[in-house]
Amino acid sequence: MAASKKILVLFGSPHGAGYTRQLLDSFLAPFLEQGWQVGTVDAYAAKIKPCTGCGACGKKEGCAFPDFDPIDRAIRESDFLVVASPVYNDSFPAPLKAILDRTQRYFEARFSLNRRPPIKKHRDAALLLTMGAEEEFPIEVTVHQLRRAFSVMNTALVGCAVWPGTNLGDGRRRESMEKASALALDILSKM
Ligand SMILES: Cc1cc2nc3c(=O)[nH]c(=O)nc-3n(C[C@H](O)[C@H](O)[C@H](O)COP(=O)(O)O)c2cc1C
Repeated sequence: MAASKKILVLFGSPHGAGYTRQLLDSFLAPFLEQGWQVGTVDAYAAKIKPCTGCGACGKKEGCAFPDFDPIDRAIRESDFLVVASPVYNDSFPAPLKAILDRTQRYFEARFSLNRRPPIKKHRDAALLLTMGAEEEFPIEVTVHQLRRAFSVMNTALVGCAVWPGTNLGDGRRRESMEKASALALDILSKM
């Protein structure tokens, strides 16, 4: 029983009850059963500014804009991170990509300010992806993007569950939900 453990979800879908939310619910169920607390950053609601590449984070730890600071705190406090998103043009929707780009503060903390590591506590992470088509490329792209950001966040991507083919409706629903739930159980069994 991990009563005080915290899971943080970076949620990239504009739909509160769409495919991504259903996949996420299936993944979260085993965590909730084991008493984990769930925190969610809804990327569309959060409206995080895109990174402007101003370079402030390379001179002083943090960011010129304060809107990411609550997410920074939530990441640092979390014991596990989930990125749950639909695929948009082979990548993440813009509001979630903005959040990803704002992790530049950790890259600069590591390489300009020599913080080793920029985030003290380690956590594992999982990617949950839904997509209209059935293609490998968006998985490669999003996994690559996350690994790049996570490399300076003391975070390791340990698994991915995909619900492909949503353009054709619910055909792949059951197996996708089962994959997400199995991934969560596997992750929990190793903690
Ligand atoms: C703007 C936009 C771009 C999309 N681009 C892709 C894409 O590149 N590849 C793909 O397979 N599906 C694409 N889709 C389909 C979504 O990924 C798919 O419908 C997803 O399951 C929606 O999840 P949701 O119900 O959580 O919104 C796109 C949808 C939108 C609205």
